Amino acid sequence: MNKSENIVWYEQIIKQSDREKKNGHKGLILWFTGLSGSGKSTLAVEVEKQLFERGCNTYTLDGDNVRHGLNKNLDFSPEGRVENIRRIGEVAKLFADAGLIVCTAFISPYKRDRDSVRQLIDEGRFVEVFIDCPLAECEKRDPKGLYKKARKGEIADFTGVSAPYEIPERPEITVNTSLETVERSAGKVLEYLDKQGYLS
Ligand code: ADX
Repeated sequence: MNKSENIVWYEQIIKQSDREKKNGHKGLILWFTGLSGSGKSTLAVEVEKQLFERGCNTYTLDGDNVRHGLNKNLDFSPEGRVENIRRIGEVAKLFADAGLIVCTAFISPYKRDRDSVRQLIDEGRFVEVFIDCPLAECEKRDPKGLYKKARKGEIADFTGVSAPYEIPERPEITVNTSLETVERSAGKVLEYLDKQGYLS
């Protein structure tokens, strides 16, 4: 629902297509989704690095960072997560409109929220990357010690322990970070983008 009234839409003079021509690649959202500790941020950073080295204009939005600023007033309740993803979706759309390849690394546990972001943007400009890593492996890694705390009941609504994660049904790309190196996973993402003509 829109609470603002009497607002009009202002058309940009410089179009997304003009920016893309200048950049030599498409503007799009690369949406990394998976459990905490699955390797989303690591992979997003590696993909961004490889794209940047190829001369692409890029940006990465990361869960922990965004929750320090734009979304610091949101918690991990179902409502907090829905609003988290809604805002990030809108921000990522702006970046993609500006011609960037924007990598987003959020658990984004609800299918409906991920699909809402997909609907926000033109067809083909939302590429969902599922980081398929078993819970047991994420828990073993436990880079921030959060699973341990969650198991002790010190963190409520912890994804995979006491809150759900809905597996993507038809992601454009699936990588398995427990079976392959981050370089291999990043390579898969770049190969997909190349083949689909996003990078030319
Ligand atoms: S999301 O579910 O709303 O998409 P987001 O990606 O922004 O989550 O933040 C996840 C990060 O917050 C995790 O990697 C972890 O470091 C931290 N975190 C803190 N509390 C929780 C929790 N209850 N569930 C999941 N992650 C949490």
